[in-house]
Order: sequence, then C-alpha cells, then structure tokens
Amino acid sequence: MKCMTKSIFCFCILFGLTAQGRFLELTPRHDKWEKNSVLACATYLTQFEWDHSKGPRYYSTLCSYEPAFGSWTICINHMINENNRLNPQLLFNKSIETVRECCSCAGSQTGISMEYYYNSLYNASLHTKIDDGNIKDAFVTYPITVNETMRRKLGNAYHFHAYNLDISNYYGVLLSVFFVCVFIISTFFNYVDHTGLNTIVFKFKVLNYIRGYLTLPTLLTHHAEYSSYKNIIIGLFPTRLESIILFSYLLLHMLLLCIDYHYDPYNLLFKSKSLQLTRLLADRAGILAFAQFPLIILFSTRNNVFEFFTGFRYSTFIMFHKWIGRIMVLDSMLHGVCYSIYALRSKIWETSAKQLYWQFGVFSLWVALIMLILSLGIVRRHYYETFLYTHIVLAILFFYSCWKHVAKLGWKEWIVASLVIWTMERITRVIRMINFGFPSAKLQLFGEDLIKVTIPKGNWKIQPGQYAYAYFMHPLIFWQSHPYTVMEAKGSLELIVRAKKGASKTIWKSCVKNGDSMKMRISLEGPYGLERGLHTFHSVLFLAGGTGLPGPLFHAIELGTLLTNGSKKTIHLMIVVRGQDILQAFRHELNKLKELKVEVTIYNTESEPTSAEHATDLTLQRESAVDSNTPLLSTRNTLSELQNFVQVFNRRPKIEKIIRTECRASKSLAIVTCGPPKFVDNIRNLTAKQVISNPDHDIEYFEEFQCW
Ligand SMILES: Cc1cc2nc3c(=O)[nH]c(=O)nc-3n(C[C@H](O)[C@H](O)[C@H](O)COP(=O)(O)OP(=O)(O)OC[C@H]3O[C@@H](n4cnc5c(N)ncnc54)[C@H](O)[C@@H]3O)c2cc1C
Ligand SMILES: NC(=O)c1ccc[n+]([C@@H]2O[C@H](COP(=O)([O-])OP(=O)(O)OC[C@H]3O[C@@H](n4cnc5c(N)ncnc54)[C@H](OP(=O)(O)O)[C@@H]3O)[C@@H](O)[C@H]2O)c1
Ligand SMILES: *[C@@H]1O[C@H](CO)[C@@H](O)[C@H](O)[C@H]1NC(C)=O
Ligand SMILES: *[C@@H]1O[C@H](CO)[C@@H](O)[C@H](O)[C@H]1NC(C)=O
Ligand SMILES: *[C@@H]1O[C@H](CO)[C@@H](O)[C@H](O)[C@H]1NC(C)=O
Ligand SMILES: *[C@@H]1O[C@H](CO)[C@@H](O)[C@H](O)[C@H]1NC(C)=O
Ligand SMILES: *[C@@H]1O[C@H](CO)[C@@H](O)[C@H](O)[C@H]1NC(C)=O
Repeated sequence: MKCMTKSIFCFCILFGLTAQGRFLELTPRHDKWEKNSVLACATYLTQFEWDHSKGPRYYSTLCSYEPAFGSWTICINHMINENNRLNPQLLFNKSIETVRECCSCAGSQTGISMEYYYNSLYNASLHTKIDDGNIKDAFVTYPITVNETMRRKLGNAYHFHAYNLDISNYYGVLLSVFFVCVFIISTFFNYVDHTGLNTIVFKFKVLNYIRGYLTLPTLLTHHAEYSSYKNIIIGLFPTRLESIILFSYLLLHMLLLCIDYHYDPYNLLFKSKSLQLTRLLADRAGILAFAQFPLIILFSTRNNVFEFFTGFRYSTFIMFHKWIGRIMVLDSMLHGVCYSIYALRSKIWETSAKQLYWQFGVFSLWVALIMLILSLGIVRRHYYETFLYTHIVLAILFFYSCWKHVAKLGWKEWIVASLVIWTMERITRVIRMINFGFPSAKLQLFGEDLIKVTIPKGNWKIQPGQYAYAYFMHPLIFWQSHPYTVMEAKGSLELIVRAKKGASKTIWKSCVKNGDSMKMRISLEGPYGLERGLHTFHSVLFLAGGTGLPGPLFHAIELGTLLTNGSKKTIHLMIVVRGQDILQAFRHELNKLKELKVEVTIYNTESEPTSAEHATDLTLQRESAVDSNTPLLSTRNTLSELQNFVQVFNRRPKIEKIIRTECRASKSLAIVTCGPPKFVDNIRNLTAKQVISNPDHDIEYFEEFQCW
C-alpha cells in the first residue's frame, strides 16, 4: 500500500513534469544582437520626417513606407555585418522575426515575407543616401544609410537593457540553486543518521560546537511557542539553523539584486542615468519576485519530496515559505515603487496607468499586502480556518493578476511551474484520502477534554512519529483537515484529540451529546512526517508532554520490540501529564512496555484534588449537556496499575538533570520530544547546552512537535 501511494506520487510528479514541458514556454532570451539591431535602427530612423502621414503607432511609418522600410533593412544588415558575427546571413534572416513583431504591433503589414525583406534591402541599397548630418529635408523620400557611430551607441543602449532582463532571470534560477545546495548538504546529514555513520561523523568536536552554538538552539527565546510582545502575538521564530539558511538566502538575494548593472553612458533611451538605473532595478526586482513563486509554492506543500531527503520537518519548510513570501512581497513593492518613479519622471504616468498590465500590477500588489497581513501569527493562532481559506483565495487572485500583468511580456513560466506543483499536490492529497477510504471510527471521551479515536486499520501503514490529516465526516466540519499523530495498535489506528476551540470542539460536543462514545466516518490523509533512524543510536530518550504522548510511545514500543535480549541499548520514556486521562486512553499500549526493556517514568503535575475549583469551561458545558447520571469514566486506577513497573512522581520533572545525566552516560544518544511548545523549546536549548559540554558524544535532537 505504501509502495502504491509512493508510486502514485512519483507518477504525479512525472506527469507534472511532462505537462510542464508541454506547456512551459520559456521566455526567450532578450539580449540578441539581431534584435537589438532592429530596435536600435528603428529608434534612429523614426527621428526623420518621412514623406508619409504618421501612423497611429510607433512603427507605422517604418513598416508601411517603402523608403523607410528599406532604410531599416540596410541599417539592420550593416549592424549585423560589422560586428564580425559568425554567421551574419543567418542572423539577418533571424532579424525578420523582430521586424515582424514590431510591424504586427503597429497593425500594418503582418506577414512580411523573406523575399520582400531581401528585395527591400536590395532595392534600397541601390539609391540610398548617407546620413552625414545634412539631411534636413522636411519630407524624406529616399532610403537613408544611417550614421554608424550613432546606431552603434543605440545598439548598445538596447543591449544593456536587454542584458539586464536576461541576467535577472538567471539570477532568479540561482535563488533555486541555493536551495538545491542546502538540500544536498542536509541530505548528507540525514543519510548519516539513517546509516549509523552518525557515531563517526558527530564525534568531530568542531561539528558539535557548531551544532551546539549555531544550528540547534532557538534563535532568541522561543521556536515552537508563539513569541509575543506585551501579550500581542508576533509570530513564530525560527531555530538557528533555519535562521542561518534564511539569512544566507536573504544575503544572496540582496547581492543578486544589487550587482551587475550596465548602463548606457549616453542616456539615449532614458532621460538620465538615475532614471535608467531606476528602470533597471525595477526590472530586476520584478523578475526576481517572479522567480520565487515555485519555491514559495513548493515549500508550502504537504507532499514535498525534499522533506524525505533532507530530514527537514514540514514546519521548517513552512518557515521558508513564509520568509521567501515576505521577500517576494518586498521585491514586488520595490518593483512597483521604481516603476512609478520611472513613469512619473519620464512623464508617461497618465498613459501607463490606463494600460491593463499596469492596473493588474497594482492590483496584485494590494492582494499580496493583504495576504501578508492576514497570515500574521495572531490570525493563524486564533482563526486558523479563516487564515487558511483567505490565504488560498488571495493566492489564486494573486496568481491571476500576476498572469495578466505579464501576459504579453514573458516570465510566465514561473507561474506555470508553480501552478503545476500546486495542482499535482492537491491531486496527491485527494488520492491519499481515497486510498485510505472513509471507514467508520469509534470516538470515545476520556477525562474532560480528550477524545480517543479508534479506526480499523485495513492495510494502511504508518511509522512511529508520523502524523496524518484527519477529516471528520461531521456536517459542520467535513471539509476541514487537522493534523494528528497516529499510532498503530493491534488491528487499529489510534489518535488522541484534545478538544480546542475549533473543529475538535465540534467533535467533542457531538461525543458528549451521544453519551461519551459514538461512531463517525473518518478519513486520514497521510502518512506524513519523517521516519527517524533511531535504531542507529545506542540510547534514546523520549520526552513526552500531554497529548504529545502517542508519537514517543509508539516509537518506544517499536524500538523495544526490536531489542534483542543481550542488547546494551537503553530506551527511556519520560512522560509528563496533568491528570491521568491520557494514561487512561493509552493504558493498553503503556502496559505493553512492561515486557519490553524500556524504562518508563511518569510525572503527574495535577494538583490533588481536581474539583469544582478546577472545573474548566469544558467541564461546565459538559455538565449542562449530559444528564448528570452518566458516570464519568474512572481514571483513578490506571496509575496504580502502571506503578508496578513504572516510576511515578507527583511533580514536574527536573528536565535539565535528566538530560544531563543521559548525555553524560551515553556516547550516542537521540533525544525525541513532543509536547507543549514551551516544554520542547526548553528541551531544545538544554540539549544544545549538552552538545557543547560533551563535544565527543553524538547527541542528536528530534523535535516531533510542529507548529505553523
Ligand atoms: C504534526 C502535528 C501533530 C499533532 N498531533 C496532535 C495529537 O496527536 N493530538 C492533539 O490533540 N493535537 C495534535 N496536534 C495539534 C492539532 O492539530 C490541533 O490542536 C488542531 O488542529 C486544532 O484544531 P481546532 O480547529 O480544534 O483548533 P483551534 O482552536 O481552531 O486552534 C488551536 C490551535 O491549533 C492550530 N491549528 C488549527 N488548525 C490547524 C491545522 N489544520 N494545522 C495546523 N495547526 C492548526 C491553530 O493555529 C491554533 O494554534 C498536532 C499538530 C501537528 C502540527
Ligand atoms: N507532532 C506534533 O506536533 C504534536 C503531536 C501531539 C500533540 N501536539 C501538541 O502538543 C501539545 C500538548 O499539549 P497538552 O495540552 O496536551 O499539554 P498540557 O496538558 O498543557 O501539558 C502536559 C504536561 O507538560 C507539562 N509541562 C508544560 N510545560 C513544561 C515545562 N516547560 N517543563 C516541564 N513540564 C512542562 C505540564 O505541566 P504543568 O501541569 O505543571 O503545566 C503538563 O503536565 C498541544 O499543543 C498539542 O497540540 C503536537
Ligand atoms: C537566409 O534566407 C535566404 C532567403 O530565404 C536563404 O536563401 C538563405 O539560405 C538563408 N540563409 C541562412 C544562413 O539560413
Ligand atoms: C524594388 O524596386 C522595383 C523597381 O524599382 C519595384 O518594382 C519593386 O516593387 C521594389 N520592391 C520592393 C520590395 O521594394
Ligand atoms: C556621426 O555622428 C557623430 C556624432 O554624433 C559625428 O561625430 C560623426 O562625424 C558622424 N559620422 C558621419 C560619417 O557623419
Ligand atoms: C528474551 O528472554 C526471555 C526470558 O528472559 C525469553 O522469554 C524471550 O524469548 C527472549 N527473547 C529473545 C528474542 O531471545
Ligand atoms: C533558549 O536559549 C536562550 C539562550 O540560549 C534563552 O534565552 C531562552 O530563554 C531559552 N528558551 C527556552 C524556552 O528555554
């Protein structure tokens, strides 16, 4: 089954790539000499007063007045021939493409034939006059051979402008190459962990100092926990590794935005040097903004193959998604501001503002800004669903307006690539859901706010620590999907849901209405998340807090079963809970550990007794919803039952001491945590400390808690 989903996924990617190959029309290179020649000659020749009523468009006269057109061909031919090009005739033949484009733009002759082109050249060269600065005729009636110096300067002017368009696109590609490099390095370290090479590689003290100081800890104080300032949520801060990657990306981006500008010293096309640079910067920023589309979309996908290779978690990719998104919006704003300045100063604002591309550009900027504001931490935290749907709708609007913005200009391949990635990913999600089906699951309440969901397994497989998105077929929330850690037990899949304010609350309410236990159809989309090579470590320390238990517990059972009798490996599972409800829900699985070589310690932080003073919002609601004669499940006996093989304490654990002891004792240790955000942040920093104090040990940290 796993094989099947994987092959379906591969198929989707292949299909996506071929589809992309079919429809992806790459923006042609702008900086071609034959093209620059055509444009330079046209600019030069339109300065003359031809004996021809001026057409409505820039190229009208050139395209339709015989002597003017002839002069154009001569000029083009000269320019192509004088630069020692390899195959001037081929270039001249190619230049007709640009001439045709110009003329179709002018609405006059659309189908200029090669024969006509050559005839004009021949005819005109028979009776051309050299422009020696003395052509002052009011109405020119004959072909002109233009001043060589001038046309060369003009050619260069076009070259500098076109060069910037091309190089910007290459620099855009470099931004993706940056991530390819990051992925190659992290794939190496991920591979090391899965093959047991870690005990050799992470013995290098330098590597451990780097990890302890630079990559492991939180950037400032928090990572999993929302950081706030005076009780106002600011957002989620990255870890140091994520910060380093993002900061390097930002530096590279700034560098690429700033370097390699060539400008025309004569200012032939633009009024001044500053105006020229403004325009070049505007183009660069706009193209770099577009080049980040595929990265932004790719990093937001649940089905991201790079997760598998690099060992980066989804939350890390989301962190990349957010920051690249922000950089992209800054780019677009820079693009917009520079273009506005350019338009104002070259006095084309009025005409430009009437153009469709301009209006769509302005519109897309506003959409991007709104999207940025609506995805701030405070919105995600309190109105996750609102954030999600507005984000999708705005993203679609944004893509549409960007498409319209460049419809006639090029660079659409970035949009097409992103759309293909997005569509393929959505299809993969649906396939995964259908693959799982919609079995009927048993929902059972434990304690005051826990729901244990038991789903018949079928032949679906999931590894310890992985999660899946659950779709509850409840009329009010069937379209919502929420991530939950799934545990595989005998013949069934189990998840534990803590009732919060949204979907989980709705489920909880219907459970209460149905007398604490009910059936509901459920689909799971997954499995997602990484298989960690925990078996390659000599010791493993699991630290689980609250509903974070299923991942570590599943790991411990799986690893414990793998241990042979003589093995020296140690597994330690430390559980912190407030009350016994979670232990009760996983009673059966916890009892399994009795036969296995797993050391279990439980810390219960519940202050005895829980009574009316502790009654929460949920308890009160529950009492009003249920007849008071429905007995609450007795949870009292679980601890005493476990007590014969488990150490139990009635306080918070001294985490620092536990970690310190374990790190000293073992040369190769994996620390796996899942639990409340503050709890995992604390453990992350403590582990980093120990990595520094034991630089010759291989201590690694795996955080299963995720938040985005
Ligand atoms: C990988 C992973 C595994 C998880 N495993 C478990 C588990 O085993 N047991 C458990 O009780 N909880 C687990 N959670 C947390 C659980 O997903 C959220 O509590 C749940 O989505 C809240 O839904 P709600 O609408 O009831 O909550 P709300 O009250 O609407 O929101 C509560 C919090 O959950 C966040 N949230 C809401 N919807 C989503 C979503 N679709 N994706 C990500 N975050 C969301 C919100 O930002 C908010 O911070 C896990 C989360 C992740 C990311
Ligand atoms: N893969 C995932 O991402 C994943 C999987 C499952 C669950 N989760 C998330 O994990 C969280 C679990 O929260 P919960 O509500 O179930 O937990 P909880 O009941 O709030 O707390 C669990 C226990 O952890 C203790 N604790 C909290 N902070 C601590 C610290 N800094 N040091 C030591 N002990 C600490 C608490 O002690 P006190 O009573 O003294 O506070 C309590 O006993 C939820 O946010 C859930 O969404 C995530
Ligand atoms: C250019 O076009 C002319 C006329 O169509 C043709 O005779 C000639 O072979 C072409 N030259 C090249 C190099 O393609
Ligand atoms: C070239 O000149 C001849 C004679 O002057 C004229 O008949 C013919 O139409 C011209 N052709 C082109 C393409 O200019
Ligand atoms: C071409 O123009 C330049 C100045 O623009 C002038 O110095 C030069 O003499 C001109 N060349 C010819 C052949 O007229
Ligand atoms: C391990 O030892 C126990 C008894 O000590 C025995 O029952 C069990 O079969 C042994 N397991 C293996 C895998 O050898
Ligand atoms: C993490 O470490 C930093 C310093 O390294 C500290 O300031 C911060 O409080 C720590 N955060 C937690 C949650 O322990």
